[in-house]
Amino acid sequence: MTIAQPHDISVANSTTPSGLKVGIPKEVFPGECRVAATPDTAKKLQKLGFEVLVETQAGAGAKFSDRAYTEAGCQVLPDAASLWNTADVVLKVRAPQWHPSLERHEADLLRPDSTLVSFIWPAQNPELLERLSHQGGTVLAMDAVPRITRAQKLDALSSMANIAGYRAVIEAANQFGRCFTGQITAAGKMPPAKVLVIGAGVAGLAAIGAAKGLGAVVKAFDTRPEVKEQVQSMGAEFLELHFQEDGSGEGGYAKVMSQAFIAAEMALFAQQAQEVDIIITTALVPGKKAPLLITRDMVESMTPGSVVVDLAAEQGGNCEMTQPGDITTYNNVTIIGLTDLPSRMASQASQLYGNNLYHLLSDLGGSENFDINLDDEVIRATTVVQGGQVIWPPPKPETPASAPVKPAATPVAVAPEPKQKGLVGQLFWPAVIGLAFVAIGLWAPESFMSHFTVFVLASFLGWKVIWDVSPSLHTPLMSVTNAISGIIIIGGMLQISSDITSPMTILGAIALFLGTVNIAGGFMVSQRMLNMFHK
Ligand code: NAI
Repeated sequence: MTIAQPHDISVANSTTPSGLKVGIPKEVFPGECRVAATPDTAKKLQKLGFEVLVETQAGAGAKFSDRAYTEAGCQVLPDAASLWNTADVVLKVRAPQWHPSLERHEADLLRPDSTLVSFIWPAQNPELLERLSHQGGTVLAMDAVPRITRAQKLDALSSMANIAGYRAVIEAANQFGRCFTGQITAAGKMPPAKVLVIGAGVAGLAAIGAAKGLGAVVKAFDTRPEVKEQVQSMGAEFLELHFQEDGSGEGGYAKVMSQAFIAAEMALFAQQAQEVDIIITTALVPGKKAPLLITRDMVESMTPGSVVVDLAAEQGGNCEMTQPGDITTYNNVTIIGLTDLPSRMASQASQLYGNNLYHLLSDLGGSENFDINLDDEVIRATTVVQGGQVIWPPPKPETPASAPVKPAATPVAVAPEPKQKGLVGQLFWPAVIGLAFVAIGLWAPESFMSHFTVFVLASFLGWKVIWDVSPSLHTPLMSVTNAISGIIIIGGMLQISSDITSPMTILGAIALFLGTVNIAGGFMVSQRMLNMFHK
C-alpha cells in the first residue's frame, strides 16, 4: 500500500473537462433501500452543471420511480455496466462489493479517470482500498468526512445517525406493548413509558427528541458533560455520576473511559434497568469497539415487555444480549440489534445523503471547476484514493484547524480592589440629591412639582426597564419602547408651534426626532433579526 503525502500526489483528477456525468447505480447490498440521489437532489446536481445518469430501478427501494428521475431531467440507463462505463463521478451508498448480476466486484468497474464517492470505511476495509487503488481512479469516503463545523453539511454519518436515532424509537414503540404517552381514561390509567438513552451524540439526541415527541419520560446519560444542557433543553433528565472524569475527546467525539468510570456508570444502569421500560444505547468512541454497558443480569432485571435498542450492534454492541442485525427476545425483554435503521427510512435517508453528496460536489467546484483540492483539510480527510494511490489515513494536522478546541484557561485580568469609600464619601451624593429635592419642593410652583414627580418616577422606571433587562428580552422590550416612543412623538407634535425659537418647540422637535430614530431603528433591528430565521 502506497501512502502518499499531499505534495507528492499526482494531479490526475485535479482538472477534468466540464459537463461531467454523475452516475447513480442501484445498490446491490441485500436489503439496502437507499439510493445516492433522489429526483430532488438530482435536480440540484444538474444546477451544478452535472448530467445525471441513473441505473434503472435505482430508487425503487426508496419509492422513487424511473419516471420521477426522468421528469427530474435525469437519463435512466438500463444496467450497471453502462452506468459505470459512462459516469465520470459515481455516487453510491454502500461500499463497493460483489455485483451479483455482473459477476464482478464493483471496485473493478471504477474507470481510471473517474471518481467514486461512497461510504468506504477505510479502517475496516484495507483490501477494498487496495483493490480500488488498482483501478487508477479517485475515491472519496463519506464516512471519513471530519466532524467539524465547516463540514457539517457533508456529514453523512450524522445524517444517518440522526435518522437511526429516530427510527430506534419507532422500532422500540413497535415492540413495546404499551403507549408511550401517559393517559387517564375511563377504562383506567396508563403511565407514560420511561425511556433511558445512553450516549447523547447525534443518534442519542434524535432518539431523545422522538421519544419526548411520543410523550415518554426520558432520561439520558453521556460521558461528555457538555451535552448535559442539550439533553435538558430537549426536556429530558440528564443522569449524572459523582465521578470526576471528562469523556470529551478530540473533534467533538468521546474518549475511552477508565475501567473505574465504566464500572460506576454500569452500576447506574443496573439501577435504571429496573425502573425504565426502554433502553436505547448509542455509546461509541469512533474507531473502538463499543463499550459493553448493559449486561445479561441487567436485562434479566428489566420488567417483562421492556425493550432494549442497541444502535452500536454493528460495532460489537452496548448490550451483552444483542444479536447484530436481529430482533431477539430474552426473558420477555425484546432486544433490537438492527443495523439497517437508516435504510428502513429510505426516502428520508436518501434525501439527506443526497444533500450531503450535493454539498460535497459543490465544494469540489461543480462540473465546470471540478477539482479534488487536497489543500482543503475536509477534502484531504475525505479522499482515500487519489489517482490510483491510497492516501488514507490523512496526515494528522499539527493543531486541528477547525476542530472544536477546548478553550485554554484564559488568564483573567484581576481588577484592582476598589478603594473603600468612607461613610462620608458614600453618603455625599445621596445627600446632595436629597437636598436638591427639598429645595425644589420648597421653592418650585405646585404645577411643576406634579410634573417633576412623574419625571422622576418615569426616569427610575425607564432605568430599571432598560438597563436591568436581560439581552434575551430585548426584542419584546423594543416593542414596548416603540410604543412609548409613539406617545413621545404625539406629545412632541402637540408642543411644536410656529414660534421656532420657543424652548417648547425646540424640546418638542428634539423629542419628535429621538422618538422617530428609536422607532425606525427598532423596526430595522427587528427586520434583521427576522432575516436570521429565513433560509
Ligand atoms: P456519536 O459519536 O455522535 O455519539 C456517541 C455518544 O456516545 C457520544 O456522545 C459519546 O460521548 C457517548 N459515549 C461514548 N462512550 C460512552 C460510555 N461509555 N457511556 C456513555 N456514553 C458514551 O455517534 P452517533 O453518530 O450518534 O452514532 C451512535 C451509534 O449509532 C454508533 O454506534 C453508530 O455506528 C450507530 N448507528 C447505527 C445505525 C444502525 O442502523 N444501527 C445507523 C447509524 C448509526
